[in-house]
Amino acid sequence: MEKTFYITTPIYYPSDKLHIGHSYTTVAADSLARYMRLRGYDCRFLTGTDEHGQKIERVAAENGKPPKEYVDGIVEWIKELWSALDIEYDDFIRTTDRKHMECVQKIFRRLYEQGDIYKGKYEGLYCAPCETFFTERQLKDGKCPDCGRAVEPVSEEAYFFRLSKYQGAIIKHIEENPEFIQPQSRQNEMLNNFLRPGLEDLCVSRTSFKWGVPVDFDPGHVVYVWIDALSNYVTALNYLTEEDALFKKYWPADIHLVGKEIVRFHAIIWPALLMALGLPLPKQVFGHGWLIIDGGKMSKSKGNVIDPRPLAERYGIDAVRYFLMREVPFGQDGNFTHEALLNRINADLANDLGNLLSRAVGMIDKYFGGVLPSEQESGEFDGELIKTAEGAVSAVEDFMGRLLFSDALTEIWAFIRRANKYVDETRPWVLAKSPEKSARLAGVLYNLAESLRIIAVLVSPFMTRCPSEIRRQIGASAPALAEWGSVEKFGALPRDVRAAKGEPIFPRLDIAEELKRYQDAPAEAPETPGKPEISLDDFSKIELKIGEVLACEKVEGTDKLLKSQIKIGDEVRTIVSGIAKSYSPEEMLGKKVTVVTNLKPVKLRGILSQGMLLAAEGADGGPSLLTPDRGAGSGAVIS
Ligand code: ME8
Ligand code: MG
Repeated sequence: MEKTFYITTPIYYPSDKLHIGHSYTTVAADSLARYMRLRGYDCRFLTGTDEHGQKIERVAAENGKPPKEYVDGIVEWIKELWSALDIEYDDFIRTTDRKHMECVQKIFRRLYEQGDIYKGKYEGLYCAPCETFFTERQLKDGKCPDCGRAVEPVSEEAYFFRLSKYQGAIIKHIEENPEFIQPQSRQNEMLNNFLRPGLEDLCVSRTSFKWGVPVDFDPGHVVYVWIDALSNYVTALNYLTEEDALFKKYWPADIHLVGKEIVRFHAIIWPALLMALGLPLPKQVFGHGWLIIDGGKMSKSKGNVIDPRPLAERYGIDAVRYFLMREVPFGQDGNFTHEALLNRINADLANDLGNLLSRAVGMIDKYFGGVLPSEQESGEFDGELIKTAEGAVSAVEDFMGRLLFSDALTEIWAFIRRANKYVDETRPWVLAKSPEKSARLAGVLYNLAESLRIIAVLVSPFMTRCPSEIRRQIGASAPALAEWGSVEKFGALPRDVRAAKGEPIFPRLDIAEELKRYQDAPAEAPETPGKPEISLDDFSKIELKIGEVLACEKVEGTDKLLKSQIKIGDEVRTIVSGIAKSYSPEEMLGKKVTVVTNLKPVKLRGILSQGMLLAAEGADGGPSLLTPDRGAGSGAVIS
């Protein structure tokens, strides 16, 4: 029977701001999947989208669309992103797929019927404006950590999963299967921070929103987050259906690849659910690190996200994928900089790999008219090159088995550098001067072509474009020469190499010049210049009215501030503004001005300012007050 390998990424929250950090998980999974296929496994690679929940419900409403219609558009966008990075998944699960939702309902009902889910009361602290529940610990100074407003204690009926019951069994499983959670540090974190201190039962339903999988035996409840999301790994295989051949074939998963912040859900909640369902646990949960920018996690709320697509368009998909897998040891956090990317492209791709190819092909072309003669001689330095090649193959096998992608690539590049050194040692241009050394020259160039072929195979899990071009240029296009089995021993390439010159596979970049692009458009810049888009709803929170200046004086002790008494309809307010350098108190009198009337009052120089006057940046650089174009009385509403 064929060996199977089932690998998954997390299912992504639908957002059109997925960035290079998200792509990191997917590129890693895709690289591993390609490697396992090369190694002869029947590999299934699953990714997808996590589409339910209050937040999506709200964002869809803000976009004026029903949730399903809204996420449909985003999912298409995400699929395009993956295809722009040559991600070749075998299956894409959406939590809004009917088969997923039906299966989640079956799972929920089954757990309820067997007593693993029970009905209780969810007690929490609720921030109504943010529509979010918090625990005591999540609050900031007793207030909503997001908006700073007061939260109210609420209690709603909800279903709970008996997570606590599985504490002992999970600890035992982790202790008996040291491979289960990787890297090791995450395993310790799970045991010490969560499992040993004790697990609480988990709230698994909500009544406060609708956009989710309905609990079929209790209308009003929807399945909350984790049972819905985690189940995707089995619903995608048609678990609990008549046609569950995929499930039988691929479950348990070999690897769930996840970011470190969701290891806990995969290493504790998911195993407990599987145990409750009587299913075998995945063989491994691997928690990788984050791509960070200037020390902080890349996130769309911070506005510091990097879109991988323009990079792939400019430097090639291979360059982006190579950088992601090479730069940072898998498992650790790593900083993203454009400079690091560009340096990798020039040093590793253009210099090391690109040069090796163009040198080898160029010499075969120049010295032998593109075809190596069959008479070839071995000689000094060959042994070491061949040893390095074969050593690289077995080291890559070892590292890939442990998901040490960066180490695998480092090993491949040591081989590439060794091959470049071989050129310097054997000096083909000197051999070419003596006709009697022609056989040796042909032997040297053969070894280079064969090295390049092996390199093309070794990098092919990571890079999707250059391997076939390398093989084309050295006349190794036959499919058998791309198989893993053909690289374990040096020499599978037929001796009569036919080379075909081509363009450099990685043109050298002018790094200083390239970097200017990113200084002009720093990573922090939002997609469209200016502030992030707001909804009409957001805008309508601002109250704007016309006011009339009744009195105005300078604020003592500063030459910047004016204090005005402003009549707005029936009321008079004191407003302090930083306009004293451009306006005198006298010229302010009687002026009609634009006032933000619902701004939280602030104290300026001891004076409580109850609003703000709007001003444009004037031609002289100072403020230019906004006044109504035609008659508009004090108190007139601006909208
Ligand atoms: O967590 N660096 O989805 P998600 C590295 N729907 N990885 C990053 C990253 C960064 N800067 N930013 C995000 C979810 N990721 C849930 C999962 S699974 C049953 C449910 C990774 O869209 C992150 O660590 O927020 C995670 O592995 C993946 O992107 C999806 O994140
Ligand atoms: Mg997340």
